[in-house]
Amino acid sequence: MTVALSGIADDILAEGLSQIAREVDSLFDALLPVPQDARARLIEAMRYATIGGGKRIRPLLLVSTAEMYGVDRDSALRAGVAIEAIHAYSLIHDDLPCMDDDAMRHGKPTVHCAFDEATAVLAGDALHAFAFELLADPATSGDPFIRAELVQALGHASGFQGMAGGQMMDIVAEDGKFDLPTVTRLQQLKTGALLGAAVEMGAIMGHVPHEGRTHLRGYSRDIGLAFQIADDLLDHEGDEAAAGKALRKDADAGKQTFVSLLGPECAREQARLLVDQAIAHLAHHDSEADLLRALARFIVERDR
Ligand code: IPE
Ligand code: IPE
Ligand code: MG
Ligand code: MG
Ligand code: MG
Repeated sequence: MTVALSGIADDILAEGLSQIAREVDSLFDALLPVPQDARARLIEAMRYATIGGGKRIRPLLLVSTAEMYGVDRDSALRAGVAIEAIHAYSLIHDDLPCMDDDAMRHGKPTVHCAFDEATAVLAGDALHAFAFELLADPATSGDPFIRAELVQALGHASGFQGMAGGQMMDIVAEDGKFDLPTVTRLQQLKTGALLGAAVEMGAIMGHVPHEGRTHLRGYSRDIGLAFQIADDLLDHEGDEAAAGKALRKDADAGKQTFVSLLGPECAREQARLLVDQAIAHLAHHDSEADLLRALARFIVERDR
């Protein structure tokens, strides 16, 4: 799976990804100074997990959606960093020996390997809390109703009705008894919920009313599933150096995924159909949605 975009879409995407990576890095750097006291190790671990790694797809989804509705970029970026903090925490915990027991992430040792397990647990906990503190800060939005809606959207997508619930199902899936609808539900929670929250939070910041968000929810539901199919395909046939993490773990763990249930060819075809469908949801937007369209393609064509 190589990135095979062309022309304008390629440029928009490359620029969007590199800009958001720079911005997210520098905001985490500014917001997480290392104190000169015994907490230093914790903040070092939080910085290690958040600065200089990852595709930053969730912040880019949030900021790109917010920009379509004229939201100030610095405000949207703060919400983007909040969602990336949740994502980073979820990866730290996902890699722990009691979960996936992984030693590499973003091309470097995982947090519990570079530090230790207790520090990794605490760094995840602290990033989780930090995300909500950021959203509740008036610098993210001057409107308290917007702040409350952001907190609710991210809380819903992170907890038992979202990511953590999906992670629980993923662990149970290792006994190999889930059918396709159950695996689809699992993936919607584990991965789709946070991707959906990114788009939703951009719309919240843009004051888009609930009834005006239906097409955006359709878009994020489709890219959420396509994203996880791509992750499963990468696990099955990707290149470890490019992915920056250990691959071929799902089959070894006896995990049911889209690839194990559909086979790689059918899974790839399904991911492409989902991306076409996601883009179709944006039909009434003009060029302001080009970055969301390019991101949808990137999600299935990526190699990392
Ligand atoms: C990986 O997410 C974990 C899943 C939710 C499948 P990403 O592919 O977005 O992780 P980054 O880009 O390495 O942060
Ligand atoms: C992790 O899914 C999803 C979350 C952290 C919520 P995976 O276990 O498939 O992610 P990778 O493959 O380790 O990145
Ligand atoms: Mg996992
Ligand atoms: Mg994992
Ligand atoms: Mg995976």
